[in-house]
Amino acid sequence: MKLQSFFSSILIFFTTIFLLVQTPHPVSANQSNHVGFLQCLSFRLNDTNIVSKVIHTLNDSNFSSLLASSIQNPRFSTPDTPKPILILTPVQPSDVQSAVKCSRRYGIHVRTRSGGHDYEGLSYVTHNKPFVVLDLRNLRSITIDVNNRTVWVQTGATIGELYYEIGKKSRTLGFPAGVCPTVGVGGHFSGGGYGTLLRKHGLAADHVIDALVVDARGRILERREMGEDFFWAIRGGGGSSFCVVLSWKIRLVDVPSTVTVFNVTKFSEQSALKIIHQWQFVSDKVSDDLFVRVMLQRYKNVVRASFPGLYLGPVNNLLRLVNREFPELGLVKEDCKEMSWIESVVWFAELGEVPTDVLQRRTRASLAFKAKSDFVQEPMPEIVISKMWKRLQEPEAELAQLIFTPFGGKMSEIGDYETPFPHRGGNMYEIQYLSYWRREEGEEKEKYMRWVERVYDEMSEFVARSPRGAYINLRDLDLGMYVGDDKRSKYEEGKSWGVKYFKNNFERLVRVKTSVDPFDFFCDEQSIPTFRSVEVI
Ligand SMILES: Cc1cc2nc3c(=O)[nH]c(=O)nc-3n(C[C@H](O)[C@H](O)[C@H](O)COP(=O)(O)OP(=O)(O)OC[C@H]3O[C@@H](n4cnc5c(N)ncnc54)[C@H](O)[C@@H]3O)c2cc1C
Ligand SMILES: *[C@@H]1O[C@H](CO)[C@@H](O)[C@H](O)[C@H]1NC(C)=O
Ligand SMILES: *[C@@H]1O[C@H](CO)[C@@H](O)[C@H](O)[C@H]1NC(C)=O
Ligand SMILES: *[C@@H]1O[C@H](CO)[C@@H](O)[C@H](O)[C@H]1NC(C)=O
Ligand SMILES: *[C@@H]1O[C@H](CO)[C@@H](O)[C@H](O)[C@H]1NC(C)=O
Ligand SMILES: *[C@@H]1O[C@H](CO)[C@@H](O)[C@H](O)[C@H]1NC(C)=O
Ligand SMILES: *[C@@H]1O[C@H](CO)[C@@H](O)[C@H](O)[C@H]1NC(C)=O
Repeated sequence: MKLQSFFSSILIFFTTIFLLVQTPHPVSANQSNHVGFLQCLSFRLNDTNIVSKVIHTLNDSNFSSLLASSIQNPRFSTPDTPKPILILTPVQPSDVQSAVKCSRRYGIHVRTRSGGHDYEGLSYVTHNKPFVVLDLRNLRSITIDVNNRTVWVQTGATIGELYYEIGKKSRTLGFPAGVCPTVGVGGHFSGGGYGTLLRKHGLAADHVIDALVVDARGRILERREMGEDFFWAIRGGGGSSFCVVLSWKIRLVDVPSTVTVFNVTKFSEQSALKIIHQWQFVSDKVSDDLFVRVMLQRYKNVVRASFPGLYLGPVNNLLRLVNREFPELGLVKEDCKEMSWIESVVWFAELGEVPTDVLQRRTRASLAFKAKSDFVQEPMPEIVISKMWKRLQEPEAELAQLIFTPFGGKMSEIGDYETPFPHRGGNMYEIQYLSYWRREEGEEKEKYMRWVERVYDEMSEFVARSPRGAYINLRDLDLGMYVGDDKRSKYEEGKSWGVKYFKNNFERLVRVKTSVDPFDFFCDEQSIPTFRSVEVI
């Protein structure tokens, strides 16, 4: 097809769908804007081949599957979920620049998507205006320099792909990021990112040493060019407020050639509660080679507790350590398995047996969820844990999960201000409350969502307060979101939840935002506001 005819056909198409898109806020929709945007983009991507690879309209037979391809929470893929008017899948960095320049010029709202794991779907849904999804799936190269122990990873890659490439190159190098291999490095690193290595090594963001971004003016900048404040902000402040991150340069960490995984399960409430209670006094203080989580959930309708863990060393050392420091766990050799670090990644993800299993880009299309999180600074009385256990017996909690993740170690050594992630020293562990329901139960989602709220409300006096903390990567819109499009009140609104995610770092994030994106091009329901917001446009 000639570029010209391809182009005019998308224009016709566009005009048609424009009339179909409902826009409750007419100020943000403008047909000539969209036509101009497409003209601008097609002109910049001046090659038919590239245009057809990058621009996907609703008419594309692949549109729906492309949109669904990385949606992890079916709560946001129902028939009434607002759909983007276009999906752009850049094949080279300059396509991202073109998308930013053209959308800025024509006032088109853009959402950036890497792995699509956003808890509230913000990378591919917005509720009050037409929008375009910039999906980075094609930008996913991973270049490892084993001698320098550094990697350049493009943000369309998943952490599973990154782990796999590291494992292929070395048995004694690893990287401290999340547990679920389908998570994208774009959102994950920019919000912090943690998993089984956090006690030893901290967050993924703590190991980012350079980045390439496209800023609001469409320029590609590396660390030196963006400056230290900007670079600070994107390592924990959430990428979506500042730029499109194209790639990260990270420093790898040492892992022993043999690590040990284990999983202890307790079925009786009485014995489980005793262990969990004791876990609170041990898990963040014990050697940082040991990571033990608590997971509470039902199995065949009976609540049980499991304690999956990773030890950075051989099984005999692990058993000696646990017998001395945490004998209540009752860990025995039969619960343990020695393996390489990359195998432990596969084991924790509960996938298969072989490292290539972490490459699968599965989506969890069958279960929708709502989650909330807390940080715990003082041990809870056993009776409180018992109350959570009882909550898990309620009908709405059939698929629910409570996950306790221990902090301490490296997490306490890094200062609250060093990165935007402020929940460091003084936090013993994080709790995540998750309610799941089957996709086909969507009509009844309110009841499942209320269950999480109830548990969360009950926990308020036992967790970090003033402010009650939250983790941006476990985004929760119940904490607040912008109402309408009035930019004048954004600072006050944004602060009310911003301090929960970022505490005192919120002000510095606002300063960075004000200087790098004064017109608030990169924004969403919870993005960092500018100081004195620009006049309503
Ligand atoms: C099943 C599951 C398991 C998880 N496990 C863990 C875990 O073990 N540890 C943990 O810390 N977190 C975990 N998370 C949370 C996860 O870290 C966050 O949801 C993270 O933001 C996902 O990144 P993404 O690129 O996959 O998501 P996306 O939905 O693509 O993006 C999330 C946010 O980041 C923005 N963004 C994405 N890419 C870019 C980019 N390139 N430039 C600028 N902004 C960008 C998006 O616009 C959006 O605001 C998990 C989430 C799920 C659903
Ligand atoms: C969209 O699809 C319809 C029906 O298949 C087709 O007639 C029309 O030409 C298509 N438009 C574009 C722009 O491809
Ligand atoms: C629509 O956008 C065009 C181009 O930006 C602008 O000239 C025009 O005034 C806008 N119309 C409305 C109604 O906003
Ligand atoms: C396409 O754009 C590139 C750079 O943006 C330019 O070098 C090239 O000449 C252009 N090609 C055409 C056919 O316009
Ligand atoms: C459309 O989807 C099919 C199957 O998922 C895939 O093989 C094909 O490459 C896709 N085409 C485009 C243009 O993305
Ligand atoms: C390590 O990085 C430095 C600076 O980037 C480079 O000059 C050097 O060649 C690299 N070393 C190896 C072994 O690749
Ligand atoms: C640990 O055991 C529990 C209970 O049998 C199980 O549900 C969970 O998936 C296991 N965890 C891992 C990481 O294997």
